Amino acid sequence: MSTAVITGGTDGIGRALADSYLQRGHHVLVVGTSPEKGSAFLAAAARSGAGDRARFLRADLSLVAENRRTIDLITETYPAVDVLVLGARYHRSTRVETPDGFESNFALYYLSRFLLSHGLVGHLRRAERATVLNFGGAGLTGPVRWDDLQLRRNYPGTGALGHGGALCDLLGVHFTRSYPDAPVSYVLNHPGVVATSFAGEYDRATAAHVDRLRTSGKPASQAVAQILPFLDAPPARLTAVLEGRQVPTDTRAFDPGDAARLHAITEKLLADLPR
Ligand SMILES: NC(=O)c1ccc[n+]([C@@H]2O[C@H](COP(=O)([O-])OP(=O)(O)OC[C@H]3O[C@@H](n4cnc5c(N)ncnc54)[C@H](OP(=O)(O)O)[C@@H]3O)[C@@H](O)[C@H]2O)c1
Repeated sequence: MSTAVITGGTDGIGRALADSYLQRGHHVLVVGTSPEKGSAFLAAAARSGAGDRARFLRADLSLVAENRRTIDLITETYPAVDVLVLGARYHRSTRVETPDGFESNFALYYLSRFLLSHGLVGHLRRAERATVLNFGGAGLTGPVRWDDLQLRRNYPGTGALGHGGALCDLLGVHFTRSYPDAPVSYVLNHPGVVATSFAGEYDRATAAHVDRLRTSGKPASQAVAQILPFLDAPPARLTAVLEGRQVPTDTRAFDPGDAARLHAITEKLLADLPR
């Protein structure tokens, strides 16, 4: 029994990946906030005869406690995790803080992926060969605002996603260095512009831009076809992929010192949170 856990698996590229893994015979858990989208996934799985292998978990992954609950449910339900896809995102044009006090993109796009990557490493190790897919920046986004990780000054709008992507790249670097003997590969993927729902809350100018992306982007099926070969046979423990093409990971964006620095900052942020 192979298992794929997919955050953001109720929509867009995540949903297309969820369908692919169901077709391949995996057990698939998708995580999202919308019960309607979750039900739609389960209904489609049932129609295709894969209903007994499909599961939906409603969780708001912008909250630290919800990530911990998700990790607990996964470890109680499945013997191992073979594929972990970190794809949940929700963009806002204006800066919002979560109840934990984190900027919302930092919380969902980066911190959730930090918690799930490290929190599930025990279950990833139990797979014969596991792969994590994190939709990061593939070295293209950033730079990291080291003195303002919560983006309090000059909030960059859509740039907040790019900033999160750069943090995810560093997460991938530190993850692979933290568990050198684990049979777990980490793939960072920038899919290019893909025609998805672009879930979010946008000001008028951004909404017009996002509308154009929704129609001009490539289909999610193409984004899946571009990344699946790297998930099936990762060329390295850490791989960065841009629109189906492997890109170098020995550049400044993947600096191990920066990755260790971000890891330490993140651990301190989490330690300072009231439990
Ligand atoms: N589309 C592109 O052009 C593009 C370009 C570059 C990178 N990417 C990256 O690719 C990944 C997938 O993007 P996409 O365009 O396919 O996304 P999408 O269609 O906008 O879907 C977002 C997913 O995230 C889930 N989600 C949103 N808020 C959540 C929360 N608080 N807790 C848990 N789940 C939540 C949504 O489920 P619910 O609605 O059920 O909450 C949905 O399944 C993202 O990491 C994105 O940044 C996409």
